[in-house]
Amino acid sequence: MSIHHLIDFNDLTVEEWKEISELATDIKKNPEKYSDRCKGKILATLFYEPSTRTMLSFQSAMIRLGGEIIGFDNPGNSSVSKGENLKDTITIISSYSDIITIRHPKEGAALAASLYSRCPLINAGDGGHFHPTQTLTDLFTIESTKGTLSGHTIGLCGDLKNGRTVHSLLRALNKLGKNTFYLISTPSLSLQPRITELLIANGNEVHEVTSLEECMDKLDILYMTRIQRERFDSEEHYREQSGRFILDTKKMAMAKSDMMVLHPLPRVDEIAEEVDFDKRALYFRQAQNGIYVRMALILKMISSGVTDDTDIYRYRDRPKVHACPNKACVANTEKYLPSLTYEIADGHRACKFCDTQLD
Ligand code: NCD
Repeated sequence: MSIHHLIDFNDLTVEEWKEISELATDIKKNPEKYSDRCKGKILATLFYEPSTRTMLSFQSAMIRLGGEIIGFDNPGNSSVSKGENLKDTITIISSYSDIITIRHPKEGAALAASLYSRCPLINAGDGGHFHPTQTLTDLFTIESTKGTLSGHTIGLCGDLKNGRTVHSLLRALNKLGKNTFYLISTPSLSLQPRITELLIANGNEVHEVTSLEECMDKLDILYMTRIQRERFDSEEHYREQSGRFILDTKKMAMAKSDMMVLHPLPRVDEIAEEVDFDKRALYFRQAQNGIYVRMALILKMISSGVTDDTDIYRYRDRPKVHACPNKACVANTEKYLPSLTYEIADGHRACKFCDTQLD
């Protein structure tokens, strides 16, 4: 693969996505063929935020490939609790392992970590920003069920503002096809305008609605999400926004007979348990597919190998990191980072760590 690290789904070319998807299909059919492909290799899982599926499916994927795992799922048990910065942790762990996967509450943390990593590094979720490997799982599930990633009417419901799986999935679908989207949320939890604009600019149709009932009968795919409690500034604000969208059998009765229901999980109350018995509920199968795509991704990325070099030398002469107006951006806590920005429309700049407009 052309990339050393996977931070954003769009780091992959369309060709590379196809290779991963084909490899995942073969792994699913013939798992025994792959059982020693990573013999002698080590995956480090560095989870600074809670996880069930992502961390355990990465670990299971590596074990099924014949490799070994190290890592932490509670930074309180590592030197992070003594005040160690991300740079030092990654510099060391990348010399103990052949591939790293990292989840962190700060937006841009995976990109920041990748600058210091001597081995391939995979973003397993950086705050409310991106979650590219959940997207691989989602795309694989859609494509293997519907046969294509284009021409669908897709509803995304819940916390579209803070849901990193939504951000990554929309950007990926935008790259791989043209679809009609129904964005179903409260006005406070609506999608960032920059992503909506991107979808429209590329010829997708976008409708913003505030209830499931408004679009249920039109959807080919419904992607439900949890309200992201941990991203709210207060419990009160969270409570105001929660419990608004609940998928139940009554609403499922309004939907097409072959509509797929997806959810990255964990579910809180947004899908009633009664829906689990509906054959259109594919979220558990979706989570299972996470193993195959992660096995494929590890195999593709591990071949890019350990190097003595890190990206940081490329940025040696850059000024220290800019102040980012986004409080959740890694740039505001890891102060030694180089300033990385890029141009957006009309000569404005955005922060490369979290994509927030700077001026
Ligand atoms: C998601 C995440 O962590 O962003 N979960 C997952 O990785 N499968 C979704 C969520 O936590 O709501």
